[in-house]
Amino acid sequence: MRKLISLLLLAAALPAWADRIAIIGTGDVAAALGPEFAAQGHTVVYGSRDPDRESVQELVARTGDDATATTQSNAVVDADIVVLAVPGMLVDAITHSLGDLSGKIIIDPTNPIVRHGDTLVHGVATSNAELIQAAAPEARVVKAFNTLNWRTMVDPERSGGPVSIPLAGDSAEAKARVAELIVGMGLDPIDLGPLENARWIEGMLIVWINNRISGRESFDFYLRRSER
Ligand SMILES: NC(=O)c1ccc[n+]([C@@H]2O[C@H](COP(=O)([O-])OP(=O)(O)OC[C@H]3O[C@@H](n4cnc5c(N)ncnc54)[C@H](OP(=O)(O)O)[C@@H]3O)[C@@H](O)[C@H]2O)c1
Repeated sequence: MRKLISLLLLAAALPAWADRIAIIGTGDVAAALGPEFAAQGHTVVYGSRDPDRESVQELVARTGDDATATTQSNAVVDADIVVLAVPGMLVDAITHSLGDLSGKIIIDPTNPIVRHGDTLVHGVATSNAELIQAAAPEARVVKAFNTLNWRTMVDPERSGGPVSIPLAGDSAEAKARVAELIVGMGLDPIDLGPLENARWIEGMLIVWINNRISGRESFDFYLRRSER
């Protein structure tokens, strides 16, 4: 009887539908988001250049029973949602290499940075989110998760209060789906409007990383909703 009650409680906590979520990359952001999405009842498939690598298989095992890993282009084939958790300056090339992304929601957590003399600067003229949308015009791109450290993504309490995730995108439906994933992680989505606003939040990392590499004071950053 207790087992039946547990199963019913679990079913009540899961979303009305389960998405297949392809996470491209197996670094810190992939390892933060994958287990969180799996815990919400979604099926996670990691796309890796080396899916048999021990570290990738450990991540698969940590993610949950029906998680898998395959190549990057295989991972997206049946996916409803694709997360591009890859190095920021490779996003355009990787998106082009993935094949047809039409109809899918693409979550873009990336920050494009390049070295310019002694400092790092934003590495693209517009934003990675807009480059992805241009590379996959029939997909619905949502910028999310790029304004905070992966540790705060999985443990927002460590920041001492609620943490907001700004979303930029041109599809209200896609932003609503991503917002559900965010709420399921104990985070607070904030709609930032159209995709072109992604360029402003991609810039936030620049000041943080330059202070760090130059040996000046270190700090963490994220957004927090305020009362008007
Ligand atoms: N780290 C953070 O706290 C954080 C927070 C917010 C946003 N971000 C942004 O999120 C993105 C991912 O960051 P990350 O720290 O998780 O990892 P990362 O070091 O940028 O690498 C992510 C993964 O991309 C794959 N990859 C690496 N080189 C590649 C290549 N040449 N071609 C194809 N795939 C390649 C690798 O997976 P495989 O080896 O399995 O192929 C790697 O694990 C970055 O753009 C970063 O700016 C990071």
